[in-house]
Amino acid sequence: MKIKDRLDTERLILRPLTENDFAGVHSWASVPENVRYMSWGPNSAEETIDFIRGAKPGFEFGVVLKADGQLIGSCGIYPSGKDTAEVGWTLHRDHWKKGYGTELGHALVEYGFEVMSLHRIFALCAADNYGSYRVMDNIGMRREGHYLKALWARIDKEWIDQYLYAILAEEYQSQVK
Ligand SMILES: CC(C)(COP(=O)(O)OP(=O)(O)OC[C@H]1O[C@@H](n2cnc3c(N)ncnc32)[C@H](O)[C@@H]1OP(=O)(O)O)[C@@H](O)C(=O)NCCC(=O)NCCS
Repeated sequence: MKIKDRLDTERLILRPLTENDFAGVHSWASVPENVRYMSWGPNSAEETIDFIRGAKPGFEFGVVLKADGQLIGSCGIYPSGKDTAEVGWTLHRDHWKKGYGTELGHALVEYGFEVMSLHRIFALCAADNYGSYRVMDNIGMRREGHYLKALWARIDKEWIDQYLYAILAEEYQSQVK
């Protein structure tokens, strides 16, 4: 599988995370509001360090604003079975609703099909997580599944529904034509 460790979009650079990024990553990963729908967090400092150390270039990316070099989030594409990968994203709450999620989502899907030569890309999110599934809608993914009470919401301490979204290589190709 071919990989690249840096992806560029109009306003963002996606590049490998390093231990120098600790303060930036911890500024969202340790905050309950920011990780409300995640299966992890809020992180201790040790958990954030472990995450950064485990972040594989080409699969996990820091999201940096081209305008000022600020690290505003992370995202990734994670191989899961033959020619298949899962995508995911987290941005610092100060940077929501500016279109960055949609922008990085487009870049991950393009990378997955054009560089990694994947057959299928999927994503999972809480059914309450409007921002995340709207990113999936915006980047051409289809809702394929609605799982009832499938996700333990650690902050709210309740079982919540989860959506499965996906896009196939042929769907991507017909969208970019
Ligand atoms: C999910 C996330 C990355 C979306 O990023 P974003 O940069 O805000 O997304 P965009 O600006 O491209 O917005 C996409 C859509 O979601 C909406 N949206 C984004 N965040 C929202 C929020 N917190 N509440 C309501 N709507 C939101 C936008 O208005 C936009 O709607 P539209 O397409 O109908 O116009 C961001 O909200 C986030 O980091 N959330 C916390 C971490 C998380 O839950 N990650 C996903 C786990 S599956």
